[in-house]
Amino acid sequence: MNLDNLVNDFKKVFGTKEGIRTFFAPGRVNLIGEHTDYNGGHVFPCALDLGTYAIACKRDDSKIRLYSRNFEDLGIIEADVSHLVYDKKHDWANYPKGVVKMFKDAGYKIQTGFEVLFFGNIPNGAGLSSSASIELATSILLKGLFNLDIDMIEMVKLSQKSENEFIGVNCGIMDQFAIGMGKKDHAILLDANTLKYEYAPVKLDGISIVIANTNKRRGLAASKYNERRSECENALKKLQEKLNISSLGDLSEERFEANKYLIKNEIERRRAKHAVYENQRTIKATKALNDGNIELFGKLMNESHISLRDDYEVTCSELDILVESSWKNGAIGARMTGAGFGGCAVNLVPDNKLTEFIEKVGKEYEEKIGYEADFYVVSIGDGAREI
Ligand code: GLA
Repeated sequence: MNLDNLVNDFKKVFGTKEGIRTFFAPGRVNLIGEHTDYNGGHVFPCALDLGTYAIACKRDDSKIRLYSRNFEDLGIIEADVSHLVYDKKHDWANYPKGVVKMFKDAGYKIQTGFEVLFFGNIPNGAGLSSSASIELATSILLKGLFNLDIDMIEMVKLSQKSENEFIGVNCGIMDQFAIGMGKKDHAILLDANTLKYEYAPVKLDGISIVIANTNKRRGLAASKYNERRSECENALKKLQEKLNISSLGDLSEERFEANKYLIKNEIERRRAKHAVYENQRTIKATKALNDGNIELFGKLMNESHISLRDDYEVTCSELDILVESSWKNGAIGARMTGAGFGGCAVNLVPDNKLTEFIEKVGKEYEEKIGYEADFYVVSIGDGAREI
């Protein structure tokens, strides 16, 4: 990514300006711990070296002017710092608008407007959190331009709040947390219940992280996501009739097995099973990685996919075909990542099999699905920052 070009684009779009600042927020990939964050469990994501660049400058008046190199057809989208409401026509620009509103509502002083050019090199809608990435890019630029005294965890929370309340997607905190708090060559074990976290070095000698994008459009993802949340809430209520627990993340596998009879609805029982087992798997996987046991880490990734496929039912034929083909063609571990229903799979692949892996999995996917998957060999980068 050439930053000078983006700064030149900014000057062309908005007219030459003094005081231009540049910011970056990554995308994220979750290695394991899926659909556990809103169930009070653990997640194990990392920030990517791909993400969203924001070139920004303060204005003297109250106008907010937003432009994305990814959506040039939509031109400059204008809002006013004193009047921030969701507007369907504003499309992607609702993400930054929402974050500004949350900052203001929380009492942070944003007294003037500003203008921003965004450019993202994360594939949109692929489950790598392009939306949380633009939210954190906005947070970090607000902090920078307006000299705000705010720490990263607070920015993470306000970004999630914007997604929940302004955009209307009831997501957990994983994506914003991974993007805000990411650390180069480390994954983050986050307890979504307490927000306690620890960094785990990802030392994959001779092994690459490969993201495979199904390129499937994620139609009903938001409504299905909310459906899973309420199924888990129902299951928790049933368990709480007898158990003193505050979330499914409080349960060991054994305690769940001994009490699952309380959940009469078979679908809700399977959803809860996934949440409990996946949380425990995530803790075991972190230990395996810290012990240097990549084989075990990979096996737990595979089990995670099977549980998401059979018990949580958030995969789809495209993801299943992609992941099954990865298992056959040399991946040490492969699973869907993110919310599911399309989007991406994450694979650990030995470097000496990389070319063959991408060729074979790509060919098999195209033959069965009728269009291509995309592959990205990624590195783990730092969290949101001024550059
Ligand atoms: C989306 C949400 C996250 C998390 C994942 C599933 O990415 O934004 O909070 O729930 O789905 O693990």
